Amino acid sequence: MPLSTAPCLALLYIFALTLVARSVYSWRREEFRDCNQTPFCKQARAAKPTHDKYEVFEVALINGDLHAKILPLSTENGEPSTPLSLELLFYSDQIIRLKINELHDPSDESKRNRFEVPNVIENTLHGKRLRIRSVEKREKMSIVSLASDLEIVLQHKPFEIYVRDDKDRILSFNNKGLFYFEQRRQKGEGDDWTERFRTHTDSRPRGPQSISFDVTFHGADHVYGIPEHATSLALKYTRGPEITSEPYRLFNLDVFEYIEESPFGLYGSIPFMLSHSAARSTGFFWLNSAEMLIDVLAPGWEGDDVNRREVHESDNIDTQWMSESGIVDVFFFVGPKPKDLLRQYTSVTGLPNMPQHFATAYHQSRWNYKDEADVLKVDGAFDENDIPYDVLWLDIDHTEGRRYFTFDKSLFPNPKEMQQKLANKGRHMVTIVDPHIKRDDGFFVHKEATSKGYYVKDAHGRDFDGWCWPGSSSYPDMLNPEVQKWWAEKFSFNNYVGSTPSLYIWNDMNEPSVFNGPEVSMPRDSVHHGDVEHRDVHNVYGYFFHMATADGLLQRSGGKDRPFVLSRAFFAGSQKVGAVWTGDNTAEWDHLQVSVPMVLSLGITGLSFVGADVGGFFGNPDPELLTRWYQLAAYYPFFRAHAHLDTKRREPWLFGEPYTSYIRDAIRERYALLPYFYTLFREANLTGVPIMRPLWMEFPDEEMTFAMDKEWMVGNSLLIHGVYAEGSTSESVYLPGQGLWYELKTGNSFPGGDYIKVPVSMSAIPMFQRGGTIIPRRERPRRSSSQMVDDPYTLVIALNNAHEAEGEIYIDDGKTFNFAEGAYIHRKFTFSQGSLKSSGINGQRNGKVFTSSSLIERIVILGLELPITSHATVEPGNRRIELEVGSLLLRPGMQSNAYILRKPNVLISEDWSIKVL
Ligand code: GLC
Repeated sequence: MPLSTAPCLALLYIFALTLVARSVYSWRREEFRDCNQTPFCKQARAAKPTHDKYEVFEVALINGDLHAKILPLSTENGEPSTPLSLELLFYSDQIIRLKINELHDPSDESKRNRFEVPNVIENTLHGKRLRIRSVEKREKMSIVSLASDLEIVLQHKPFEIYVRDDKDRILSFNNKGLFYFEQRRQKGEGDDWTERFRTHTDSRPRGPQSISFDVTFHGADHVYGIPEHATSLALKYTRGPEITSEPYRLFNLDVFEYIEESPFGLYGSIPFMLSHSAARSTGFFWLNSAEMLIDVLAPGWEGDDVNRREVHESDNIDTQWMSESGIVDVFFFVGPKPKDLLRQYTSVTGLPNMPQHFATAYHQSRWNYKDEADVLKVDGAFDENDIPYDVLWLDIDHTEGRRYFTFDKSLFPNPKEMQQKLANKGRHMVTIVDPHIKRDDGFFVHKEATSKGYYVKDAHGRDFDGWCWPGSSSYPDMLNPEVQKWWAEKFSFNNYVGSTPSLYIWNDMNEPSVFNGPEVSMPRDSVHHGDVEHRDVHNVYGYFFHMATADGLLQRSGGKDRPFVLSRAFFAGSQKVGAVWTGDNTAEWDHLQVSVPMVLSLGITGLSFVGADVGGFFGNPDPELLTRWYQLAAYYPFFRAHAHLDTKRREPWLFGEPYTSYIRDAIRERYALLPYFYTLFREANLTGVPIMRPLWMEFPDEEMTFAMDKEWMVGNSLLIHGVYAEGSTSESVYLPGQGLWYELKTGNSFPGGDYIKVPVSMSAIPMFQRGGTIIPRRERPRRSSSQMVDDPYTLVIALNNAHEAEGEIYIDDGKTFNFAEGAYIHRKFTFSQGSLKSSGINGQRNGKVFTSSSLIERIVILGLELPITSHATVEPGNRRIELEVGSLLLRPGMQSNAYILRKPNVLISEDWSIKVL
């Protein structure tokens, strides 16, 4: 053996071992740091609450913002006692922003600015600034009154900030005295700043620079949010009497075979927490992309007795926030209702983008569809089995040796023809493009990145080299705007040879995942553009990668088409870019269940286009679990089946009857509901309110719903209750509110406000339509969603006790940005006094026009009890149409007391009314 090949073989061996390790063992806790192994977390948790540490001085109003300084009163370990700067900024919709940073010292060049996260805050936020005219200065506090009766109090000594309304506190910052801002210091002789974890050493050349503080949510029953964790929607206490849990961790990690019920960090991070009670919902967001840990403190936690003055309510929730670096840049949101929080939060971080229509349909994925023949066989089998689908996905092994932007020449010799064959049926393809670039001098992406100096550097200034799917790899520095631009260009049809306009992209492993790195990621002392350490940007790396990819798709179409990019890593703001999924789950019932709070948590923190791998990524679901998963996932906003390389094939028809039929029904149900889903995507795009909602978002007064994880709403009209146990024959379903609910399987109605027991069979999971709503559907089964474009609609009207209902439909070309210039149809349907009306929703701008020749072919009315005539009258035209009582309903086997109007044949795009009574 030539000498030079020996080290290569050794490396290959290590790599092979890494891969084997990844596939043999399940979650290995010891691979990941806990709080005790994380010095800044350990220190923050051990800190005694104190009100003698900081004092505010020099409060002044400058250009309508409140400025002040914070003086550290006691310092330790050679820390400087320089004052910190404080700014309070105010925005419309009662949004309050607090920034605390080290004072910039131009004479000390060793002190570069601490990192502030770019590209998250909306540019439009600046235009929403409220300039404050006066501040009431008292001896111990400065008080700012916002237009309403909302006051922000900056207490000078001890330092504290709180927001109050009618003298009741809403949110407090440093009420418990846990605020600590570790200023950077000169390295003293004998100081050892290195940190060690397992075999890894973090040189920490800039020393300790952590931040921690407490936030109190007053009058809160529960807190929620701060994804991503595989745990309940309502967050649990992590510290307090007899509670010893890890804090919730926000650190983007590729956690192999993650377990449910764990506060450990997963692939993405959104440092936004919401609180809710019947009286008020509030929110708190910390814009910081370094590692963050958050404790939810139980009553009686060790600092609880430091409860000061006015604040003795028992129903407060105290939280402690800890971060390794960065600055304090936090936002307070005062609601008062859950949907208000989403509007407020997305006005800061951006509204969810509007996806292409096809992306809202069903996606079929697997690691890996082997070759072109396999792809075409699967594609054909969907048609043979009469199952619709829209997108076929190719995982890493479609490439030449895991070099992204290539197709393996022997397995996929004709990628364009293959895509065209799918496109002929209105279908699309998605290929994977990960951030680890194979270090191969013959690979054009690597060659360019190396020569241009576009990779993240290691602590010694060399291109960082880590192990991932292709072996030795480097990672483009997505913090560098020039690299973002270069990356986007890689998606042009010229650069990405074999790609066609019907091809879209999947970004995976962008935490970033580095198999041989600390905690399977990049060392924190790696260096990015602008001399920024990886520790500062870790949580936002994946978001920037996702963003640059989406920009690439946008440019590829000359700015015409909406991009579609799925990402595994995410951060606050990812909703502006694309879809996200919950990573490598397992084919187990518990993972089916936990997917619901995971998707809900993402939705309430702004990221609404989310789903989990149907069937579970690892392992082999039995037919029952797979069926239940399809039945549930048909209501996730993002609906994709995916599976690991080593799993048995499980395309929807492979388990045979009766399962194929059950799965077909579930997927078809999604297609029938696409008009409703698309309308909800538009609602999210306009308001930030997610598609999949916790019950309390629709019923904020109902305490029963505050900790519910097993059922949820799709929009405001459909309630879904998953079946999470093998062999279940009945389910206990809670129907919230005082109104009526209609079980869609039978058409039976039930009053809200109680649990009901419903029998379940394998054919469907419980699903209810809320009385008072109208849902648009399309009932004709097709191969793919694009073949439904001209199909007629069905309206399902579920009347409330007052015999009224309303609903909406939103339609556009499903592809371009013309909708932003007015090219859409947005209608409101109202049923009252026996008459159904369609009217245009205000706000439709003049400009481009979108038209549709689709008709309404059927109207189903649930809950109509009054004596009726045998016909209805359509206006304009004074046309009579048949009214039938029947069971001709939405699903096979459905019987109900529905009234059906056949062939009203009114246009979806026009004003009309239909009088029934
Ligand atoms: C990661 C992804 C998974 C994908 C695999 C291979 O584990 O989470 O979805 O199939 O990598 O690319």
